[in-house]
Amino acid sequence: MQHVRSVERSRPVWDRFVRLFHWSLVSCVLLNTFVMTDGEAVHQWLGYLAAGLVVARIVWGFVGTHHARFSSFFPTPGRLRHHLNQLRAGRTDMHWGHNPLGALMMLALMGIVLGLGLSGWMQTLDAFWGEAWLMDLHEALSDVLILSVGLHAAAALVMGRLERTRLVKAMITGVKERW
Ligand code: HEM
Ligand code: HEM
Repeated sequence: MQHVRSVERSRPVWDRFVRLFHWSLVSCVLLNTFVMTDGEAVHQWLGYLAAGLVVARIVWGFVGTHHARFSSFFPTPGRLRHHLNQLRAGRTDMHWGHNPLGALMMLALMGIVLGLGLSGWMQTLDAFWGEAWLMDLHEALSDVLILSVGLHAAAALVMGRLERTRLVKAMITGVKERW
């Protein structure tokens, strides 16, 4: 008898919270970087909202659905080494959740957003009012963030092609599909 092993073609991976988190964070960051850059009230509230979303995502990383949990994708040295070796050998191992490099970038992006929230908030305190180094730090963090975001979005597009997986669509519908 012939035995046919079926290849899994699609799987629900990103729950509603993860998707809402992602696109809300994208909106806050893009608005604060390119539209409301004056540091006034709307900028401040959008910045706190972004930082609050990140804090909520960290909590969700412990109590959320399987693929949202840090334990399922945390970029440990072992996972990173394996992933880099695969890439070096020209193999693009498909991941239903985040791949280890993508996970590293995710943590970096969230860390930078928290740094922007903190350096922004400190500028509103009497103790640091008008401090040039703080403004420079805030601006430098926003530059690093937007460069990283460019890399992150490009990587999502390129890796999606190499892995033959619809990564961006999955962040919208929640379902990751192979093609
Ligand atoms: C996602 C978070 C944030 C991003 C991406 C962001 C980005 C930026 C950018 C691009 C500028 C213009 C820098 C320049 O002059 O070239 C700026 C300025 C400023 N931001 Fe933010 N920001 C964020 C959060 C916050 C928060 C939470 C606060 C305060 C509560 C804040 C307060 C300020 C202030 C006072 C300025 C004007 C002074 C300065 O240039 O440092 N920001 N921000
Ligand atoms: C300000 C801009 C952005 C920020 C701060 C950002 C941040 C993040 C974060 C934190 C995650 C992890 C999601 C989670 O597990 O909760 C993520 C995942 C992801 N982002 Fe973004 N993102 C941005 C823009 C974009 C854009 C423009 C695209 C589209 C090209 C994109 C595509 C994706 C995809 C496809 C994933 C999931 C990757 C995977 O399947 O492992 N992101 N992003």
